[in-house]
Amino acid sequence: MTQSPEIGLQEFLAAQVQLVDSALQQWVPEETVDPSSIHRAMRYSLFAGGKRIRPILAIAAATSISGETSGVENAACALELVHTYSLIHDDLPALDNDDLRRGRPTCHKVFGEAMAILAGDALLTLAFEVLSRLPAISAEQKIRMVEELSRAAGTVGGMIGGQVNDIEGERKKATAALLDSIHRAKTGALLRASVRIGGIYAGATPDQLAALSAYGEHIGLAFQIIDDVLDIEESSEALGKTAGKDQAQQKITFPAVYGLERSRIMAEEERLAAHAALASFGNRAERLRQIADFIVQRKA
Ligand code: IPE
Ligand code: IPE
Ligand code: MG
Ligand code: MG
Ligand code: MG
Repeated sequence: MTQSPEIGLQEFLAAQVQLVDSALQQWVPEETVDPSSIHRAMRYSLFAGGKRIRPILAIAAATSISGETSGVENAACALELVHTYSLIHDDLPALDNDDLRRGRPTCHKVFGEAMAILAGDALLTLAFEVLSRLPAISAEQKIRMVEELSRAAGTVGGMIGGQVNDIEGERKKATAALLDSIHRAKTGALLRASVRIGGIYAGATPDQLAALSAYGEHIGLAFQIIDDVLDIEESSEALGKTAGKDQAQQKITFPAVYGLERSRIMAEEERLAAHAALASFGNRAERLRQIADFIVQRKA
């Protein structure tokens, strides 16, 4: 659809945000549906203006594989549902204890802790309902996507495992190996799953999936390196979340271990490696290359 390279990246991203948001609107129960308090809390966090980078990656990965990817935005919704759940829980007092997210007071600040926990649970659960109900793809593809998403969100090398190490790492001495594994797990795994799910949707061959995985791992690491850098360099207003939190909580981050300058160089190395992973794809992967650039150059 909006894959033609003459459309600039910003315009492409804006069009994909719209596409994903209108699909999300269809999947998430209306606020008036009983019990309305949970649907209000889910929608409050989901429609607060996130970048939608994970669903956009899924869509761009699918279009790098096939010209026929209609409906991929529905599969992409599952990634945003899991991601938004992870943010709501990440912000809870028991985890990072944050008051600001996506430019608004955090879910628990507005709806209370109990409802924020349940809203996270509900978004996570809904993600798998969405995958199970995708129209127009095979049951085998759906099962593969469920496996991708559940493993990426899980404890072994996945998001929750990374969050555990992140929390337990507070005030601990950071080693390079622990830092690398936290970032690959807490953030990288879901970004890798995003491109793999797009690839599976579009019928990627094993070789193509392997290339998408390598790309996903490199941008995944770059994404969290830059998240750590922006936490220091940008304001809360620019980020829409509290700046300077990592140092205050003595988190294990790239700037804490390597310094800002070296961290940016390492993110740049990951960007180049992500490009290299797509060498065999030709022009079809131009959007994925541009998204890798965006991840490293973004200001929020
Ligand atoms: C923030 O993710 C949390 C991390 C995994 C670093 P994003 O920077 O993608 O947040 P939104 O979705 O745009 O709000
Ligand atoms: C969050 O990492 C990773 C998640 C799984 C949500 P951070 O704790 O650094 O994310 P922000 O900076 O609060 O968005
Ligand atoms: Mg955190
Ligand atoms: Mg946090
Ligand atoms: Mg952060």
